[in-house]
Amino acid sequence: ENLQEDELIQEVGDDISSLPTAEGWLSHYQGFWIPTQRMHGVIATQKYFQAHENDILLATTPKVGTTWFKAILFALVNRVRYLNPQQHPLLTNNPHALLPYLEGELFMNKNEVPDLTHLTSPRLFATHLSYLSLPKSVKDSTCKIVSLCRNPKDTFVSLWHFENKVSALFGTKVPDTIEESFDNFCRGVSLYGPFWDHVLSYWKESLEKPQKVFFLKYEEMKEQPTTHLKRLAEFLGCSFSPEEEEKGRVNDIINLCSFNNLSKLEVNAKGNTAIFGVDNTSYFRQGEVGDWKNYLTVEMEEKCDRVTEEKFHTAGLKF
Ligand code: A3P
Repeated sequence: ENLQEDELIQEVGDDISSLPTAEGWLSHYQGFWIPTQRMHGVIATQKYFQAHENDILLATTPKVGTTWFKAILFALVNRVRYLNPQQHPLLTNNPHALLPYLEGELFMNKNEVPDLTHLTSPRLFATHLSYLSLPKSVKDSTCKIVSLCRNPKDTFVSLWHFENKVSALFGTKVPDTIEESFDNFCRGVSLYGPFWDHVLSYWKESLEKPQKVFFLKYEEMKEQPTTHLKRLAEFLGCSFSPEEEEKGRVNDIINLCSFNNLSKLEVNAKGNTAIFGVDNTSYFRQGEVGDWKNYLTVEMEEKCDRVTEEKFHTAGLKF
């Protein structure tokens, strides 16, 4: 669909300028803080993205392991196409290059609605939108959603490092101290925040529609990757056959996508490779559970736990 340039910019632009803003770079839209420069992509995605029945959507709030799961989903769904481990696309491409963002990439172009007809089926996409803000066609179709989340304290620490790294690049304002940044995070003013509301939107949907939304924690995947990869394959309708299991295909994918493997590949380890203008190394920092202990004070820990308890308690979600 090709719209006149003016038409598209204006149609989308009108909705954006009236939104409340914070920190000089976030806009408040449908309950969440979204980078203002992404708002065009958000509204264009909502207006123009048409889900196919067998699409797969990776839905995350930033820094919960999106890069990891882009790799996992790509490797899992395409495992028959890439049987030769020496020639796997993940060896030479950053996971973000293999599984595109809807609002942050595909629908960012202000001049046209992207042509997605060349994508092979099943199509894989990623989004940082909450469930509430997903395009109607995603909610109405049988397409599947894989939602990943992570312990809020580790998510915050990961975000703090990432934002400090990219702020110079995007001219975004990051608070001078980790305490200030943490206070913002706890009151919901963070990249695609409030973190808790975002997670809850998918958690609730996964309880109501377990065939549509698969909900998984980063920590669970770290602890029992085999179990959860097999569950994920089953959910997506591409279970591992007994022969595949015997040949070690489950472990092949886990190893291919492990932090140790991906972070050491030249494409991800060298500072001169970039996607979305962000250095590929920025997506691989430590990949551990519990690193927050090295950054947060006891007061910060207690504050974050209080918010988590308040927000998640009645929904039965625990961290
Ligand atoms: P840390 O900063 O705690 O190390 P996202 O991909 O959503 O931006 O999340 C980034 C976080 O996931 C970072 O966490 C990063 O190191 C971690 N990560 C990236 N690749 C990973 C992998 N293959 N396995 C586990 N964690 C990974």
